[in-house]
Amino acid sequence: RTVYLKDYQPTDFIIETVDLVFDLGETMTTVGSEIRMRRRPGADPSAPLVFDGDGLALSGLALDGKPLLPERYDSDADTLTVRDLPEDGAFTLTVKTRINPTANSQLLGLYRTNGIYSTQCEAEGFRRITYFYDRPDVLAVYTVTIIADEKTCPLLLSNGNMVEEQTLDDGRHMARWHDPFPKPSYLFALVAGDLAMIEDRFTTMSGRDVTLRVYVEHGKAERAGYAMDALKRAMKWDEERFGREYDLDIFMIVAVSDFNMGAMENKGLNIFNDRLILADPETATDDDYARIEAVVAHEYFHNWTGNRITCRDWFQLSLKEGLTVYREHEFSADQRSRPVVRVDEVKFLRAHQFPEDGGPLAHPVRPTEYVEIDNFYTTTVYEKGSEVSRMIATLLGPDGFRQGLDLFFERHDGGAVTIEDYLKCFEEATGHDLTHFALWYHQAGTPVISVASAYDEDKRELTLTLGQTTTPTPGEKVKKPLHIPLRVGLIGPNGDNMEPSAITGGEHRKDVLELTEDEQTFVFEGIGARPAISVNRDFSAPVKIRFDQSREDRLRIAGAETDLVARWDTINALALETLVKAAGDVKAGRSVTIDGELGDVLIATAEDDALEPAFRALALTLPSELDIGRAIVDNVDPDAIHTARSAVFAAIAQAGGDSFARLTTAMENPRTFSPDAESAGRRALTNAALALAVAGEGDPARANRAYGHADNMTDMLAAMRILAHQFAGSAEAEDALSDFRRRFAGEPLVLDKWFSTLATVPGAQTLERVAALMGDDAFDETNPNRVRALIGAFASSNPTGFNRDDGAGYNFFADFILTSDKRNATLTARLMTAMRSFEALEPTRQALARRQIERIAAHDDLSRNLRDIVDRMLKS
Ligand code: ARG
Ligand code: ZN
Repeated sequence: RTVYLKDYQPTDFIIETVDLVFDLGETMTTVGSEIRMRRRPGADPSAPLVFDGDGLALSGLALDGKPLLPERYDSDADTLTVRDLPEDGAFTLTVKTRINPTANSQLLGLYRTNGIYSTQCEAEGFRRITYFYDRPDVLAVYTVTIIADEKTCPLLLSNGNMVEEQTLDDGRHMARWHDPFPKPSYLFALVAGDLAMIEDRFTTMSGRDVTLRVYVEHGKAERAGYAMDALKRAMKWDEERFGREYDLDIFMIVAVSDFNMGAMENKGLNIFNDRLILADPETATDDDYARIEAVVAHEYFHNWTGNRITCRDWFQLSLKEGLTVYREHEFSADQRSRPVVRVDEVKFLRAHQFPEDGGPLAHPVRPTEYVEIDNFYTTTVYEKGSEVSRMIATLLGPDGFRQGLDLFFERHDGGAVTIEDYLKCFEEATGHDLTHFALWYHQAGTPVISVASAYDEDKRELTLTLGQTTTPTPGEKVKKPLHIPLRVGLIGPNGDNMEPSAITGGEHRKDVLELTEDEQTFVFEGIGARPAISVNRDFSAPVKIRFDQSREDRLRIAGAETDLVARWDTINALALETLVKAAGDVKAGRSVTIDGELGDVLIATAEDDALEPAFRALALTLPSELDIGRAIVDNVDPDAIHTARSAVFAAIAQAGGDSFARLTTAMENPRTFSPDAESAGRRALTNAALALAVAGEGDPARANRAYGHADNMTDMLAAMRILAHQFAGSAEAEDALSDFRRRFAGEPLVLDKWFSTLATVPGAQTLERVAALMGDDAFDETNPNRVRALIGAFASSNPTGFNRDDGAGYNFFADFILTSDKRNATLTARLMTAMRSFEALEPTRQALARRQIERIAAHDDLSRNLRDIVDRMLKS
């Protein structure tokens, strides 16, 4: 059952208001839905009403208060069809269902875990609550009445503002909420239970006084402060940067411990995975703080990009997600170090989106068909979508981008729109033609840009010849050239930036070249000496660069480039090249040799006090085994990569021993912990240096001391990981691991870090440990965070352990997938994507991996989610 973009049709009926009444019971909740609606003007007067359902049973149906005769309707688990409805004029349909929130292990729709009722409706979860037009282009005003036991559910929350509260008989009570903003069903939310709360206030730029609340489990209120702080900063930032103001009197965030995704932007009532809310120095790392800040902002920003303006259909998902990720990225850049934030984005894109784009699950930012929309909440839709909006900003300039977005908000507020509507706003506001640019939304695959240069000393001219190709992706054999903004810098012999007197040959805007053809030549005039060319500064386009540049030029960039993103990229590429070569040496049975220059560059960068510590830490972090595998592209042998990387790491550690030892103590932070980006950067540099220092010393003692002295989770986890991964099996490693397990026995989110650390210990023996950890008291296969921390980390981040050459890793994983699929399809399908690049493996492992994927595919009772993923993985 494939859904196609080309089949889009508006509904035959329009919904004006929805009145929902929930009578909450643990195993039986009744849902009454009173829908005020009318036939759409111009619609077929005889068309029946067809509502979506998912696993529902109808328990009542009435038209304008009168029960409907059975011949007027049909219902099954997935559909409700009502015939002979009025041709014109409004009518009220009342639909009743009964659902079991406790039995809902899919965590989609209304579910109850740990005594808390909560909902997740995006994308198609509302249809698991009641029959409805469960699609984003049907916007209605909701009133929600919640009735529940007052003792176990003192808290009754839904979207909008609370308008009524009452105590009822039998220890029950009710609350009624009204959301004045028309919204699609996927933004509906309900929470009921007993939770702790912190409260604050925010006054918007026009003077609206907003109550802010963050709800968390009892005993965790102290850990909600950072999320609240991030929320207030996000609200302020959106006013200043984009003129967007909050629109209700209350804004609530609820943290729940069983959640399939990161978080959800339900109108006025965001629901979060608790790992993206709870933080304090003892339990959260600096990375956790940064993620919390980003995701709190992301969900808040959706209030305008997603909620006030939503998607016409799910093919347009990137309209809200790509744009909101871009807004989130810009927020993080303003709150933290812009280049360091950008480097992290580049690393993420390369680690996750590029492989998606280059594998069997590749799809355009705006897909044209899907089997299960849940499987399209991807890094392509999110992160590549964000890069596409960023490129629009690069092409139009910050003011042009703002004008276009202003027009978008003005024109489409209250609408459900398309990517075309979005692009048109930028075109009309600025006069730019984005016709060619729009292909970024429709063509899958990562473009490869080839660069060739020639310098003419007599003419004082530099000629750059740029080519672009995109390799075919499933179902898309022929690729067209894209409109690509490429930021280029010229670095002179003394490390200075050289400014050309003119650039000829093609469109450009200052240092941004606009590539539009298969091949183009740009001439930079007035260049007095042969420069080193820095391509794709600030990662202006999400592309791969093929540039056979001299070592000398690259070292110049690595040492002097003022664009720190490009500087990091060059340092990283030098390291990657060495590592790939070393892996080749290992595979061919040669000994690994590394040139001294790489070590020199890394040590010089790490020691450069003119650079911020966070950047120096990035430079010191060698590409991971997964990065190396991706660079090798095919016939990948994880064991050879592991051996090679360890050898290169040891060689650099030896070469820079004194520097690294010194750096482990050089970074001083204030005595009281602060999660700010600068302090975090100092911790990052300390810990990157620690990993190298102990490798150079060949002795865990220094890491052992660091573990013992750590007074925050960042340092403690870093030391434990070093012990566990670099000194696996040592007494020091086992002691630290058991100390950590004991110390955080009551802290599931902290134990996730322990599970992940253990699951990613390199080597064949880890599989047995992972299997044994499934029996640990703290492991809970029904909790998505636990599953991702143990099974997810093992499959996606342990190349040597998972890809054991006897195939036992794949076999274990396939067994888990098959049981997990029965319980939670969303989570399972997502886990399964860990194997999407199996065809890059060397032949033996590839065959063993395929056999297990085929074993899964041979089951005829897979969820639609998993079926879609494995079929696409095997089809290409
Ligand atoms: N809209 C949410 C967010 O980006 C994610 C919801 C994902 N839901 C899903 N079924 N895949 O913030
Ligand atoms: Zn989002």
